[in-house]
Amino acid sequence: MSNARILLWCLLVGSLIVSADSFAAGPAEFDANSPLAAPRSLDQIGFPHQLYGWLIPPDNPQRPPKIALGKQLFFDKRLSEDNSEACASCHNPAKGFTDQQPTSEGIHNQFGQRNAPTVLNAAFNVLQFWDGREPTLEEQAKDPIVNPIEMGMKNFDEVVAKVEGIPEYQAEFKEVFGGPVTIRAIQQAIAAYERTQVSFNTPFDRFMAGDQNAISEQAKRGWSLFNGKGRCMSCHGVNPTQPLFTDNRFHNIGVSAHKSDFVPLARRALAILARGGGAQQLDELAIQTDMSGLGRFLVTKDPHDIGAFRTMGLRNLLVTQPYFHDGSQATLWDVVDHYNKGGVQNPFLDGGIVPLGLTEPEIDDLVAFMATLTSPEYARAAQAEYRAQLRRSRTDRPQRDTAAAMGLKGRNGPGLGGPFGDIGPDQMAENPALLGGP
Ligand code: HEC
Ligand code: HEC
Repeated sequence: MSNARILLWCLLVGSLIVSADSFAAGPAEFDANSPLAAPRSLDQIGFPHQLYGWLIPPDNPQRPPKIALGKQLFFDKRLSEDNSEACASCHNPAKGFTDQQPTSEGIHNQFGQRNAPTVLNAAFNVLQFWDGREPTLEEQAKDPIVNPIEMGMKNFDEVVAKVEGIPEYQAEFKEVFGGPVTIRAIQQAIAAYERTQVSFNTPFDRFMAGDQNAISEQAKRGWSLFNGKGRCMSCHGVNPTQPLFTDNRFHNIGVSAHKSDFVPLARRALAILARGGGAQQLDELAIQTDMSGLGRFLVTKDPHDIGAFRTMGLRNLLVTQPYFHDGSQATLWDVVDHYNKGGVQNPFLDGGIVPLGLTEPEIDDLVAFMATLTSPEYARAAQAEYRAQLRRSRTDRPQRDTAAAMGLKGRNGPGLGGPFGDIGPDQMAENPALLGGP
């Protein structure tokens, strides 16, 4: 081999090793050029055109050059302190704009306390985040950039200076916003891009539009259970102004009751919030501390909101696993088992969470219904995940408690009024009114 050839070989092998390394670096890899990352057509069955029109803020209209700029920013790792993390690292289009991890990994391999929700259809959220602590996509977009364990920039001045230092951006911001880079313009561009990520057109949308054959008989039985015996509809209602299957409200369904001793935790949070309480502090409590499990309470300081989280939408669930605000449930069967036994008892449990008495075939039907809420671009990935979860559900059901589900123990059992699930009597006796106490 000639020297030149050997050199070429070394370069080639070297670059293979480098790319293998960056692949091994894991969840951060994403493809900005994938069709899944492109702005989507609004011409979809089930798409609520009128509602969407109302949701576009008058001061941030959808314009193609702004959307293109927002897309660039969404996929740009330079928005993080060490150029390792973009929005897309945790909201990967190939994974339904999530990371498919229980909780997210930010810079320097640090894990937060919360599961990354999808950006798909986030335009329709009345409030953003699991606890609704930000009102709009614009306000939301600035938080992860300066969160110390997500993208880790020190402050907004540093973000603006860094983006301003990149000549292409300088030119684009001037063209789109008519001026220099500002944090407001960054927020607006990202939000405009996110508003193009709408995902409807599911078999269920076709069924609702009148195609009786769009979903299976099993899924139709599941839809009846969803509205009836399963009581899902009381929080995950769907109609033209709630197209995502959520009431956009906050409920304690017992998810963090496993891990949290709510009352002392709430006292600690109140003491911290009394000393400051800005948006950035709230974000850090939610992402980085064990107070995360208090949920909506961190925002409202209302004891009724202890352990309450936003009712999540149910579209494209088979590409956004695992489930709940802490990613604690691996499969949709586990989620239904959680509801079937009446959640996990705690003093702040929502009154709508009661044992359901669903049988095994009924649980399968409910999951089959939820599977019909998959948009066509994710159909293949969702098929594979459905099969994997189904297989797992035949042997592995950590949340199943048939006796509790059928009312044979717990609040309907012989020891009436006693605790059930796995929270002890001491906690049941805690009085929320004592929160302000010593
Ligand atoms: C380190 C991972 C990570 C990065 C990076 C990240 N996010 Fe998130 N994102 C999350 C997590 C976790 C949540 C939920 C946090 C919570 O609710 O407290 C979230 C929530 C959201 C939500 C709210 C969705 C909903 O249904 O409430 C939106 C929108 C969003 N992120 C967009 C972005 C944008 C835009 C960026 C880049 C500027 C970004 N994210 C960067 C992990 C990440
Ligand atoms: C009392 C209101 C309420 C009822 C009733 C209810 N849900 Fe939920 N649902 C919620 C809330 C709140 C969350 C988020 C909870 C959390 O993470 O702490 C949620 C989360 C979910 C999730 C996880 C979504 C995700 O992205 O992680 C699924 C799936 C789900 N519910 C399905 C159902 C089904 C099926 C039923 C009926 C058997 C049902 N829900 C009944 C309020 C409710």
